[in-house]
Amino acid sequence: MGYQEAFRDIVMNPFREDEEINQEVNQYLVAYQQSGTEYSSFDHYIRMKILGYARTPCQTRALALLYSYTYMPMHLDGNKKVIEREYSTFFNPYIYQKPSNVVMIDVGCGPMTACMALADFQQGLPAKRRLELDYLGCDIHSYMTDIALNFSTKKNQDDLFGDHFRACYPDIKNPHWIEQLDCPVKDGGTLVFYFSYFWEQGGVTEEVGKWVDCVKRISLQARTEDTFIVYLNRDLGGSNSAYTEFKQRIRERPDTLEVIASEKCNHKYQSWSGLEEWLTQGIYLKARPKKKTDLHYEILRVDWKHYENAGTDTPILSLR
Ligand SMILES: C[S@@+](CC[C@H](N)C(=O)[O-])C[C@H]1O[C@@H](n2cnc3c(N)ncnc32)[C@H](O)[C@@H]1O
Repeated sequence: MGYQEAFRDIVMNPFREDEEINQEVNQYLVAYQQSGTEYSSFDHYIRMKILGYARTPCQTRALALLYSYTYMPMHLDGNKKVIEREYSTFFNPYIYQKPSNVVMIDVGCGPMTACMALADFQQGLPAKRRLELDYLGCDIHSYMTDIALNFSTKKNQDDLFGDHFRACYPDIKNPHWIEQLDCPVKDGGTLVFYFSYFWEQGGVTEEVGKWVDCVKRISLQARTEDTFIVYLNRDLGGSNSAYTEFKQRIRERPDTLEVIASEKCNHKYQSWSGLEEWLTQGIYLKARPKKKTDLHYEILRVDWKHYENAGTDTPILSLR
């Protein structure tokens, strides 16, 4: 089963087949129909009014699915663009060609978008070049990680993830997940902290310290050959203050962080229309013409040895 079929099964079918979800989305539909001409379509209403441009906390199953319907395809294409652009300088040398494994910690993983982009990308690689990846997605909302888990446990998931694409634990239901994390980073392995469309979320400004500490503790403990941070987001014109602060605080000394890439580019993304027709008549979505959007991404290399005497005095993790 490929991504499109999994998307239909996991994201779209529950809108019609799950009573609770159907009821909630139908309430939004009624509100939209009563809203006059402010919104050009139900899709537009969902994106602006209900999801607040991807900033509304997804505290129900319906909201998490609406997020996945609206934003997952766009963010998937953003991630694929970064992988394609950085394939020869970062992904191929540091990820795909490594003799040892890669542990990827996807912060604010949502429905597992970044992992799906990697999985989708590596379908085009010969089997022996597909990466051996331990993926750990975490998200504050368990409705998101439930969707992610559905993608990861889909039957015939090898079609999506390839033979070497291993375990996937997108679960933050347990608030102590970081302390209990047990990801084996083999000798010479690579650790990647992945922040895909995360640093624009409401509330993350107050959490900068938590993620700084998380990167320092985990990378110090893992002692991998390479530790990287990948950041990507729509281009905010330099005004992403939470990310800027995070980056400043990660840098213990001038040479703790090496910027491997810092790029702005645009990418074309696929989106879908027709949620109203799907709900009311069972007519499946139509692909919209692809649109362009601006993207900003960075890849940073962390020299974790600098954290050794830096006073990260929180308990040591068991990563081996
Ligand atoms: C814009 S979405 C991005 C999701 C996914 N990474 C992507 O690229 O599509 C941001 C995600 O971060 C999650 N999130 C927000 N605040 C968080 C926090 N403090 N800790 C962990 N996850 C958080 C949200 O629930 C949401 O799934």
